[in-house]
Amino acid sequence: MKKHIDTDNPLNNLDEWEDDLLMRYPDPSEENEDAKEKQKEEFRNYVDSERVETVKEFYRINHTYQTYDFVCSKEQDFLQFNRKEMSIWEAVEFLNTLVDDSDPDIDLDQTQHLLQTSEAIRADGHPDWFVLTGFIHDLGKVLCLFGEPQWAVVGDTFPVGCAYSDKIVYPDFFKENPDYTDERFNTKLGIYTQNCGLENVKMSWGHDEYLYQIMKDYLPDPALYMIRYHSFYSQHKENAYAHLMNEKDIEMFDWVRKFNPYDLYTKAPVKPDVKALLPYYKELVAKYLPEKLNF
Ligand SMILES: [Fe+2]
Ligand SMILES: [Fe+2]
Repeated sequence: MKKHIDTDNPLNNLDEWEDDLLMRYPDPSEENEDAKEKQKEEFRNYVDSERVETVKEFYRINHTYQTYDFVCSKEQDFLQFNRKEMSIWEAVEFLNTLVDDSDPDIDLDQTQHLLQTSEAIRADGHPDWFVLTGFIHDLGKVLCLFGEPQWAVVGDTFPVGCAYSDKIVYPDFFKENPDYTDERFNTKLGIYTQNCGLENVKMSWGHDEYLYQIMKDYLPDPALYMIRYHSFYSQHKENAYAHLMNEKDIEMFDWVRKFNPYDLYTKAPVKPDVKALLPYYKELVAKYLPEKLNF
């Protein structure tokens, strides 16, 4: 039976976008034949499912409405940080109140996704700020709880103010975006200059940019790049925007690529023992971040 699709929020839950990413970019490290067969099987099931339509609808509205002016207006609004004062722990708890229509027995809540990401980073012996980045990287999704539609919170991010690359998922949907025919914005460089640096480039609005703006005074550059660009798949996977990047960006994107597998491929059905892990994370959060942050 076909479900009614909510025009602002077509996804049954935010994870559907990440499940779609997994189908687009299957885990290359799954080397044995069994794992590969399983991935193929999952892909076939996925293609046949109703989810393809909901994800497609999600991208249609995302690509239609993420214009340069839209990003400016969201920045003006949310970068006042006047919604809520929270500690990281309150933000984690708040994020967990996100209503999830999917099966609670199978799916992990947001805290568990964060901990699986950060624990995998820790297990590989990376520096503590990298572990912390894994733990907080999706906290910007609290935007959903401030009433923002899914298409302005999650999804692949991309530059606005210049031509949309055909390396972005479902590029045809950009034809409905007013910037597509706007001469200020529809050339390769648009309002930017060659290799101007991503610092000067506006990205589509979502949880990545929002959390970066909250964290920018507290974490080292590689951590900030991971937070800010982790959904910028058309660059970190497809290299579609090299013409906007400067030397520092190129160097820092090694870190963004290092982070990506921990984000995408650490979803295991085994739930992390939140209680046992808490003391370590309390100390880690206190080392880098202030008691309260403004969201
Ligand atoms: Fe994310
Ligand atoms: Fe994530």
